[in-house]
Amino acid sequence: MLSRAFGTGLAAIAALAASPVVANPADNHRTIAATPPMGWNPFNAFRLNYDESTVMAAAEALVQLGLKDDGYRYVNIDDGWWLRRDAGGITIRTNLYPSARLPDGTTSLKPFVDRLHAMGLKAGIYTDIGYNICSQRWEKATANLPEGNRGQREVGSLGHQLEDARAFSAWGFDLVKVDACGIADFGADLPEVMDGTYRPLGPIMLRERPGASDIARVEKLYADFAAALRKARPANPLLLSICAWGDADVNNWAGSYGQMSRTSSDINASWGAMLHNFDSAAVRPLFAGPGHWNDPDMLEVGNGDFDGNHLTEARAHMSLWAMIAAPLVLGFDLTRASPDILAVVRNRDVIAIDQDPAGNQGVIIAQQGDGQIIAKALATRGHKALAFVNRGDGRLHLSVPLADLNLSAQGVHLRDLWHGRQGTLRDGVVSVDLAPRETALLRIEARPIEAKVSVPADMPARIHVTEAGYLPPDRITRNQWVPARIGFLPSGTPITFAGRQETASIGVGAGAHLMVDLRGEFRRLSLAPEHVATDAYVIKVDGKAVPHGPLRNEALDLDLKGARQLELIAPAAKGEGASFIWHNLRFERQ
Ligand code: GLA
Repeated sequence: MLSRAFGTGLAAIAALAASPVVANPADNHRTIAATPPMGWNPFNAFRLNYDESTVMAAAEALVQLGLKDDGYRYVNIDDGWWLRRDAGGITIRTNLYPSARLPDGTTSLKPFVDRLHAMGLKAGIYTDIGYNICSQRWEKATANLPEGNRGQREVGSLGHQLEDARAFSAWGFDLVKVDACGIADFGADLPEVMDGTYRPLGPIMLRERPGASDIARVEKLYADFAAALRKARPANPLLLSICAWGDADVNNWAGSYGQMSRTSSDINASWGAMLHNFDSAAVRPLFAGPGHWNDPDMLEVGNGDFDGNHLTEARAHMSLWAMIAAPLVLGFDLTRASPDILAVVRNRDVIAIDQDPAGNQGVIIAQQGDGQIIAKALATRGHKALAFVNRGDGRLHLSVPLADLNLSAQGVHLRDLWHGRQGTLRDGVVSVDLAPRETALLRIEARPIEAKVSVPADMPARIHVTEAGYLPPDRITRNQWVPARIGFLPSGTPITFAGRQETASIGVGAGAHLMVDLRGEFRRLSLAPEHVATDAYVIKVDGKAVPHGPLRNEALDLDLKGARQLELIAPAAKGEGASFIWHNLRFERQ
């Protein structure tokens, strides 16, 4: 037992104030996207077959249908807006964006952005981190590819980052999505590179193969782009939406540069693709929070498997995105929105779960077969969203004791956010009967059993992975190794105790660094690392190491009074295996 590890006297406090603390990844840009961005993007509905009138019709629909007031504010254009790049800058494709043609013969998207702003909306633009862009590789049939000689067709931002950041800022944009095809898809053996159509580059980033990618270089490119955005408009930089599909370990570092970052390949309007993209983000609650959100891609609600004939699937998709605090970017044709689909995306109770100000991503607290239970701690203590997910095609019964959520069964207020009829509470156990592919989304308001105690699942937005530590060299993106997870080892094996999955434990890779943003709000932490006999665990409070012997089965008790941050550093991988567990972390509030 170890307590009052760093003393409480004045001298100790002065020493602590001077000690180094770890930078919070979200600090630089927390205010740009305090809650997950919401809006509309044409790509899922139209691919590249849209123009300014399509976008303005969507913008008008956002306003008229009330979606703007629900929070859907960003109207983003995607690939296909460039004509060419010259020494003087970019020329916009005015056959698609007629308002971009200025009287002096130059082009600008400012008139377009001004119209959106006048409607109370925000505007987003799109570019690529390499020389060339996704459509040049993947949408060859479109009429909207850049034109001119090889250099003029290099409309991506590489080599022009500050210039483009300045242009987008001057035009008034609020967001930029920065894609990565240019550094992934234009290697020397591509036929169009061999015949001189495009300049060879890398590939620097290999799809699905982080171990073979030049990760440091990819990270530097996005870091430079973020810096260019801040330089171009310091008081109000554009929101940076990183679109590198979970490749090059982007999921581990994106939070330092972008406000949202794609965790996987492109979604499509099929049930399987939706689940695949959901999974890529759902395993990473410790990598998201205010100012840095995991992005499983734009919504397919309204399309394909999620259209008006598949409302169960549409509600499930919307529920899952809300539970993991994903950006809600609509991707269907708003001018043909059915009342049923509008009711799905306009459900204010569900939107409120997504937009909850605490910014906690939901945590998977149980999974078996086709069933998953996800809990999301909301800003008010004792308030939680609970999703019961049926991923399969048969009926399913799922249940969870409220005690697993540290909630008392007395005086519980339980509400089903879709139909008002899901969720039975009996003997302190909440249970649901789910139709095939149904997700039940409940909001629970109750009293915590231990009034002052929070476990990691109650506060993932405060916990940051500042160093990923060990990564298996043969990892592939699809079968992720997550450097830190609540209730699971990095490999995905659940951490269980007495048959129940732990919500108070964090599985980490060897050498992983966690930083907990305490903000002086806690007085005490206890942790009980079981089955561990190493003193190589490093625990720091406000930058100062807490001395301790080998951590065995007894609980370690730390004084956190007034502390701003806690660091938990796992032992390096030396014959002890690749992963460790910070067991039973219990934070007691002031
Ligand atoms: C990539 C992105 C998509 C979309 C297309 C446009 O595939 O991941 O979201 O922007 O490019 O070509």
